[in-house]
Amino acid sequence: MKSAAGYVLLAGTVLLLAAFFGYQSFFPREEIPYDDDQEGLKDQIVFKFSHVVAENTPKGLAAQKFAELVAEKSNGRIKIEVFPNGSLYSDIEEINALKEGQVHFIAPSTSKLGMLSPQWGVLDLPFAFPTREAALEGLNGNVGKQLLGSLQGDGIKGLAHWPNGFKQITSNQGPIQKPEDLKGQSFRIMQSDVISAQFSRLKADAVQDSFNSTYKLLEEGDVDGEENTISNIYSKKFYNLQKHMTISNHGYLGYAVMMSEKVWNEQTEGTKKILLEAMEETTAWNSRRAFEMNEELLEKIRENSSIQIHELTPEEKQKWKAELVPVYEDFSQEIGKNLVEEMKELRAKYE
Ligand code: LMR
Repeated sequence: MKSAAGYVLLAGTVLLLAAFFGYQSFFPREEIPYDDDQEGLKDQIVFKFSHVVAENTPKGLAAQKFAELVAEKSNGRIKIEVFPNGSLYSDIEEINALKEGQVHFIAPSTSKLGMLSPQWGVLDLPFAFPTREAALEGLNGNVGKQLLGSLQGDGIKGLAHWPNGFKQITSNQGPIQKPEDLKGQSFRIMQSDVISAQFSRLKADAVQDSFNSTYKLLEEGDVDGEENTISNIYSKKFYNLQKHMTISNHGYLGYAVMMSEKVWNEQTEGTKKILLEAMEETTAWNSRRAFEMNEELLEKIRENSSIQIHELTPEEKQKWKAELVPVYEDFSQEIGKNLVEEMKELRAKYE
């Protein structure tokens, strides 16, 4: 039998519950409608954007522009902190840092993405893009879209392609004009099997190392030369350490801008819209300016240094192509036949 005190306690609890639910149904809690202005009341969101090049380069300036546009469009609610020069992570570390959420945006050179999928090697094929128009058509078309889409399998959201420009070759061991001039020399290259195979075909030694190690490798004579865009050669002062530079335009160098899918999915629709709009405007700006910037900086190297500059004549370029083009077939299986064929067609259209 229950005691009288027990009945009193039970009755009291029932009364209290009835009073609470009665109040709720008479005065239901009002849902606050969504209002964009509320966003401003929340804490500021801060994203870290890490990259390895100098600020006065196509990627450095694009990252800065993206940060400015995002701040402007969000009235300062979203802040992009840009860390240039590999000050947070090297190019070898940054993909893992993105996956682990230590950094929110990166823009590695596409040559370094072979570790995610061999498809990316298509952009490293020799003389793949004969002109900047060819590069923009390839990047904005099916090839570029397929590559960005392939990142999804790794939990990465591919946001855009930011081109830098075409690669040139520098060396301390005599002018490089004919393909056989590279024989026996050593060059620092990016982490790419397709690039490595091209140097092997030319009987040169290719040393894969990070971008931020390049200056030291050249300075200490661990390699004879390197290949890069003019903006990287200029901003990192590689030209001060090298006697010769060949304007060969033998390969493309550009970036895939990316976020982790997890971080992307955590954002509100309002934030996603701002990021995408700012990315689209930045990409349009970068596509217009990157190639021009490389041309302008070549003039600065000419004015400010004693490096000897050699330009491949059309006949010389033909010889280079004849030596290197077999790489297309060597990598057709690994990259994917369709992608390689598409690239060949694009090249033929602009040659
Ligand atoms: C390099 O490693 O030479 C380049 O990928 C650096 C860069 O990001 O432009």
